[in-house]
Amino acid sequence: MPNSLYRLVDRQYDIAQGVAQPLPLPRYDTYSICNLRGGIGKTSLAFNLTYLADSVLAVDTCPQCNLTWFFDNNYLQNASVTVYDMLLPNFVPGLGSPSHIAKSISATNVKFNNRNAYYLPSDGRLYILPSQIATSIVQAQSVSGQKQIQIIDNILFALKNNITREMQETQTTRCIIDTSPFFSGATHLSWHASDALIIPVRTDQQSVNALSLLLKTLSDPASEFRKIMPSNGHTPKIQMIVLTHCGWSTVHGARNRPDQQTKIYIEKVFDIIRQNITQFTTSDPTNHLLLLDDFFGTGRISSAKATPIPLLHPGESMTIDRVRAEVNQSVEKIQNQLKYIHASIW
Ligand SMILES: Nc1ncnc2c1ncn2[C@@H]1O[C@H](COP(=O)(O)OP(=O)(O)O)[C@@H](O)[C@H]1O
Ligand SMILES: [Mg+2]
Repeated sequence: MPNSLYRLVDRQYDIAQGVAQPLPLPRYDTYSICNLRGGIGKTSLAFNLTYLADSVLAVDTCPQCNLTWFFDNNYLQNASVTVYDMLLPNFVPGLGSPSHIAKSISATNVKFNNRNAYYLPSDGRLYILPSQIATSIVQAQSVSGQKQIQIIDNILFALKNNITREMQETQTTRCIIDTSPFFSGATHLSWHASDALIIPVRTDQQSVNALSLLLKTLSDPASEFRKIMPSNGHTPKIQMIVLTHCGWSTVHGARNRPDQQTKIYIEKVFDIIRQNITQFTTSDPTNHLLLLDDFFGTGRISSAKATPIPLLHPGESMTIDRVRAEVNQSVEKIQNQLKYIHASIW
């Protein structure tokens, strides 16, 4: 490994101990957690960062509603106004615009009792949002001059404008947007709603491919993102890539060395960061790659109980689908990794 990668791995050791200085990154209010692939840790990260953030609005834009479920296990029964209802009036004329949509998380998840945290729930109808956006853009293009620019701005900033209002109404200062693995629709709008992106990449080749596709979608003039831009050309930068499901070597004396698979993906992702550094929020590639250990049993229990990982204790166990799961002894390490990500973004 080149030297810079050794430094990055050494830093992870300090992070695990809870003694590393936060990264020298600019701080923003609104982040999209995004990569164009499922099952890589977007929702887990969104859930845990929401817990750590305090004074936060979490926005679920994924039609699978996993984040919504974490906040309200009964969301299907507890009918509510969703991100879809919030966005639709921006594309279909004549509908009244709802406001005060955000719900207090502590009302349905007691783990958030001491938190000033709100969320905007998702629903399955977000699957059809892409065609509604496409239709309204085509209609906008038949309008001429300044009016067209204004209509397109209203479409592309629909999520941003709604989030700004909901943050004012809830008096929250930070926003985390969880996204689906698909670009078209709400993910597209989330890019225009956020200052910067946080990109989870799992230690597998498909996730790296998804990262390359994302970078291309951000930068290629022919991409769906760049083909139609708002008047101010807004493009989010990338704050951080979080390599998820990392493992460590168990070889004697190798306490702080990534395992072979993790090492390969650290190298691949770091190369991609170096080659695309202009798309990041600083010019130093080592500022932009953090590792998050495989959650194993900790993750299964966190998910089953809708409990943020910072609240779990080593040794806690439960039976999930007839299989016993236990919070790993090394849960503190994961907690420190999450805290460090939190401390490096706000
Ligand atoms: N380091 C990690 N980061 C995020 N998720 C992890 C990690 N290790 C294990 N997992 C597990 O991987 C799964 C990721 O799922 P999820 O967060 O829903 O992904 P996505 O939202 O990208 O589809 C969860 O079951 C989670 O417990
Ligand atoms: Mg998800």
